[in-house]
Amino acid sequence: DDPENLSHRPPVVTIMGHVDHGKTSLLDVIRKSRVTAGEAGGITQHIGAYLVSTDKGHIAFLDTPGHEAFSAMRSRGAHITDIVILVVAADDGVMPQTVEAINHAKAAKVPVIVAVNKMDKPDADPDRVQRQLAEIGVTPEAWGGDTIFVHVSAKQETGIDELMEMILLQAEVLELKANPDKLASGHVVEAKLDSGRGPVATVLVKEGTLKTGDPVVCGVHHGKVRALIDDRGRKVDQAGPSHPVELIGLSGVPMAGDEMVALKDEKDAKQVGQHRFQKQRAKELAKTSR
Ligand code: GTP
Ligand code: NA
Ligand code: MG
Repeated sequence: DDPENLSHRPPVVTIMGHVDHGKTSLLDVIRKSRVTAGEAGGITQHIGAYLVSTDKGHIAFLDTPGHEAFSAMRSRGAHITDIVILVVAADDGVMPQTVEAINHAKAAKVPVIVAVNKMDKPDADPDRVQRQLAEIGVTPEAWGGDTIFVHVSAKQETGIDELMEMILLQAEVLELKANPDKLASGHVVEAKLDSGRGPVATVLVKEGTLKTGDPVVCGVHHGKVRALIDDRGRKVDQAGPSHPVELIGLSGVPMAGDEMVALKDEKDAKQVGQHRFQKQRAKELAKTSR
């Protein structure tokens, strides 16, 4: 372990916004944009997070837009998101869930970048969006505030490069750093039981580097990393900070938001997992006997 080796890590981004303002469309365009010529087939693999490479750096996107997932993670103590992209439809303006998203981001102390979407619509009114947001304390840089606004159209795929640039600019300000030279820790983004592969957890590494063969604990489950699969379905040997991977080799299916830690010793991993399992069972028993 080298405690001094702090390196920049890619920002982790969550997309939020009112219903139908274009969260899924925007995520789809971004996911598509990272697929370079010659690997068009690589897009089929779907895991709960993916990494986008731009010529200015990498960005990790959580592929679960929505306020519920965000608050669920937070209520479980998982601080995964570095930046929130707030999608506001230029024709519709600020709506109840726009305000809700702002409140979530504020509570989590996560900076917001506003993506004013549907700029292609004839009745798009981005100035109104700026006024409405400024009124509730989200003031654009252009008006002396500190919030970045970007005009985009998920439909016409415009403004996406600028959005990526602004995310990386914001990330620079945040000085996101992690030490890749130690045992990994991070969080479960999603997990499932696969009929062929057994328990599969999509994890996002926060610190350190996760490696094949590492003993791990995920929530109340433990195991040894049998295989790591990246967001393009390729088997990889390791995953560093902000790199999402599927982890195979756990004793059971963890929950989204669970903490993941790699340990030196498999016996320790088993003990920690079992200890947590017993603690959770005791809690459940106490609840049901009340
Ligand atoms: P929920 O997940 O239901 O909250 O919606 P969402 O925010 O994910 O919105 P979604 O991406 O499903 O888009 C809603 C509708 O708006 C769809 O019919 C999209 O085709 C349309 N839409 C999204 N982005 C744009 C855009 O940039 N321009 C236009 N004209 N339509 C868009
Ligand atoms: Na929708
Ligand atoms: Mg959607």
